[in-house]
Amino acid sequence: MRGQLLKTLFSLMITLLFVGSLLTTFIWYMFNDNNVEPHRTNPQKKSAPQPSDPCKGCREIIDNVIERYSQTWKKKEDNYQNFRSQLNSKCRGFNKAIITQANTPVGSKLVYDGEKRRSLQVTPAIFSTFVKEHPFSNKTWGTCAVVGNGGILTNSSCGQTIDSAQFVIRCNLPPLKNGYEKHVGIKTDLVTANPSILVEKYGALMGHRRPFVDSLYTYGNSLLLLPAFSFGHNTPVSLRAAYTIEDFGSPIKPVFFNPEYLQRLAVFWRSQGLRAVRLSTGIIMASLALELCADVHLYGFWPFSTHPHGFHPLTNHYYDDRKTKMKFHAMPAEFDLLLRLHSQGVLRLHLGDCRPHEK
Ligand SMILES: *[C@@H]1O[C@H](CO)[C@@H](O)[C@H](O)[C@H]1NC(C)=O
Ligand SMILES: *[C@@H]1O[C@H](CO)[C@@H](O)[C@H](O)[C@H]1NC(C)=O
Repeated sequence: MRGQLLKTLFSLMITLLFVGSLLTTFIWYMFNDNNVEPHRTNPQKKSAPQPSDPCKGCREIIDNVIERYSQTWKKKEDNYQNFRSQLNSKCRGFNKAIITQANTPVGSKLVYDGEKRRSLQVTPAIFSTFVKEHPFSNKTWGTCAVVGNGGILTNSSCGQTIDSAQFVIRCNLPPLKNGYEKHVGIKTDLVTANPSILVEKYGALMGHRRPFVDSLYTYGNSLLLLPAFSFGHNTPVSLRAAYTIEDFGSPIKPVFFNPEYLQRLAVFWRSQGLRAVRLSTGIIMASLALELCADVHLYGFWPFSTHPHGFHPLTNHYYDDRKTKMKFHAMPAEFDLLLRLHSQGVLRLHLGDCRPHEK
């Protein structure tokens, strides 16, 4: 009897160990493609060697996407209103997406959305870095452009079209000058920054900070949105970014993602069928735009390494070819959801090149 019990316990332990290590691998894998990374690992080193044909099997998937995409797009007002009111009521991005002195008083407890057992009590010093009022409270813009950084924007001539939007959102401090402007535009109202870029490119702001400040002038007086409270190690470097901007008198306005909003958004997308461990910055910004803007246009969202029309190879970003993950056996789930919203007339994806004055 006892031997039996021990045996059962033992096999249970082995199973748990196995599942645990599988999960760890899985989580590591998912996180590495995420824009809000928990660890500063180098994805290039551990990823499997690339197959000789990087797009083996993706042709079929791309054909399928293009078939869904090429129906004439028309905004469907009731679908848009319906989706928007769901986001409004479940996520409340319009007044909760960003931490403010009004919604997060001294003494509040912030629970890290990427590390739920970790929390932080807001001290007066941290509180002083929060904006006073929510930048989006009860505001609606007409046309918004959310610009992903996909290689599909290379030579797209979409700059003018993107800049014609009333509100332009960009992700992860992308370069806009040196010839990119024609293809991605220059207007920026909000730009996100992944703390890992501050670590890699600007020495975590521990040494000279002017190169960081100089790099921000491209974005004028836009909002600089940082996920300061997603993972514990994001906080000090994000606060240093805010202090640096203040000390140098840079016109950009640092603000922090509200981890509660990110958490609500993750739950929302899970309810829509998304099984990702973490949301990408792209889908987060697209969701926020849907709450704030009447017409949402997405540019630079294309998860494959070949162009949808020319089928020529694409770099991973329009400005470099740093690899994240190469996966072609399944439609990347987030893109599939965005494509669904495109088909439903809720938002508009742009996969082609732009002609000047095209909307
Ligand atoms: C936003 O608008 C709603 C209804 O239109 C109103 O009840 C609410 O008080 C407004 N909030 C702010 C911050 O102005
Ligand atoms: C983009 O256009 C430039 C100039 O016409 C050309 O040199 C370059 O090869 C093009 N890049 C790609 C990826 O097509």
